[in-house]
Amino acid sequence: MCGIVGYIGNNDSKELLLRGLEKLEYRGYDSAGIALKNEDGVHVFKEKGRIADLRRAVDGHIFANIGIGHTRWATHGVPSKVNSHPHQSASDRFTLVHNGVIENYDLLKREYFADGAFKSETDTEVIVQLIEKFVGEGLQVLEAFRKTLTLLHGSYALALLDAEDNETIYVAKNKSPLLVGLGQGFNVVASDAMAMLQVTDQFVEIMDKEIVIVTKDFVNIQNLNGETIERAPYTAELDASDIEKGTYPHYMLKEIDEQPAVIRKIIQTYQNEQGELTIDVDIINAVNKADRIYIIAAGTSYHAGLVGKQLIEKMAKVPVEVHISSEFGYNMPLLSEKPLFIFISQSGETADSRAVLVEVKKMGYPALTITNVPGSTLSREADYTLLLHAGPEIAVASTKAYTAQIAVLSIFAEVIAKSKGLEIDFDLIHELGLVANSMDVLCDSKEIIEIMAKEFLSVTRNCFFIGRGIDFYVGLEGALKLKEISYIQAEGFAGGELKHGTIALIEEGTPVIALATQENVNLSIRGNVKEVVARGANPCIISMKGLNMDEDSFVIPEVHELLTPLISVVPLQLLAYYASLHRGCDVDKPRNLAKSVTVE
Ligand code: F6R
Repeated sequence: MCGIVGYIGNNDSKELLLRGLEKLEYRGYDSAGIALKNEDGVHVFKEKGRIADLRRAVDGHIFANIGIGHTRWATHGVPSKVNSHPHQSASDRFTLVHNGVIENYDLLKREYFADGAFKSETDTEVIVQLIEKFVGEGLQVLEAFRKTLTLLHGSYALALLDAEDNETIYVAKNKSPLLVGLGQGFNVVASDAMAMLQVTDQFVEIMDKEIVIVTKDFVNIQNLNGETIERAPYTAELDASDIEKGTYPHYMLKEIDEQPAVIRKIIQTYQNEQGELTIDVDIINAVNKADRIYIIAAGTSYHAGLVGKQLIEKMAKVPVEVHISSEFGYNMPLLSEKPLFIFISQSGETADSRAVLVEVKKMGYPALTITNVPGSTLSREADYTLLLHAGPEIAVASTKAYTAQIAVLSIFAEVIAKSKGLEIDFDLIHELGLVANSMDVLCDSKEIIEIMAKEFLSVTRNCFFIGRGIDFYVGLEGALKLKEISYIQAEGFAGGELKHGTIALIEEGTPVIALATQENVNLSIRGNVKEVVARGANPCIISMKGLNMDEDSFVIPEVHELLTPLISVVPLQLLAYYASLHRGCDVDKPRNLAKSVTVE
């Protein structure tokens, strides 16, 4: 949450910073600001709202070859101009942007500024005020920065300007992501390589508790003791076109349409020269030593984990528990003797999941991360990683990462099964190929689904998703998609559970979307539909070919019963998309949300 950028070089920094912030807007978009530094001093522009609002507020005439910027997802203090970053010290000498949360900010404020009134309600301001205070007490800026960092508890990625220094941006990181990008005669700073791909593909990763002195000609990384750390840059393997919308009106629609290609890429990437699906042998050995798998994830990734449990238990016969990461830390179940933890996270940065990973590593247990982002925190800190290869997912509502997670979990399940000598009675490569083809068919059915969205979702306040078995899990995901981008109150329920209370909410016209892709429960889920219809519900049955009946609203192509979530979710993603569109909501940047949830 929140994104930061910085530039120091010979050119004007304004446009680069603004464009960089546009690329980071997925990390938070309730307010934004930039600070531009030239011989006249530091010029700060801040706005509540989007980067487009900030762009309008920035004085286009200022030339400044140093600058920092920030896009905010509010944690401490409402979204407002005064709470938006950059924040400045009392004398305005120091200017700071921050991504993260300073847990002890209030204590620090009371300890060091007993009578001082701060300008904002943020946790960030205490950092910049402390730096100025320590400089006032005689410390050099770097020493004051270092001393301040040692006092902070929490997470931060910081970029600091000193009005009296035309040569330097001071940078530091702990727990929040941060990269320094290298150029000829300039250097840049960003929360995500995407923001600076416009000028470089060479990046240096910054580790926790490191400080970086960035000038236009060099980058000096130090630990908190002031010792220099050498680290080679890497080439960001991102294609600038991956992060553009192209001809699509929204990233979400583009990402839905990319799903067939992602599935094909996953099949290809996880195949060896003999054409067999494979994963790192160390992962296989770790799983085979374990007596139980604990999947830890949040939101959509948690929903993928629920499907993953079915795949792993049915194919590889390993018991699996799935837990919401934010609950697991303080509500840890009795663990088995030899657990293996799997963290599923699109971004690889989710703080709730990371907090569990840190605990689990302290307890000495092995951990595997399944993520879309190589080099992300969860990937670096786990023992093993499986990548999703889905390409950057920019829309806040996750779509292609969900299906990629399930596809990778199915490959994981098959490889583990085969390593144990278990028979799998279907050809997964072939079945995943069919899934990709079926996704193509579904992506071509947008017109029908748009009509369905109008019919079922245009006026309603609420909506229920029901399913049994694996369909229940997809219903949970369908409900999450719908509520997060259309603001319709939507809930997913196990078909049989509705009558135990929730059925009281069914009124005349309440949409109930039922999934019927599993033969063994096809009749019982239809029975549940009848129960709600008898109470006035407006039913929308999405069934799989072969199980379909006349009453169904939409029929998806037939795929293997364990892989149906990969395709039954596509009409639900599209329903959410069109519901959001027709209600005039911001599809890609729904209110109150951010793509990368880096606060607990
Ligand atoms: C919903 C969505 C979120 C994320 C959740 C976890 O569309 O995207 O629910 O799934 O915040 O994020 P990751 O997967 O990055 O750990």
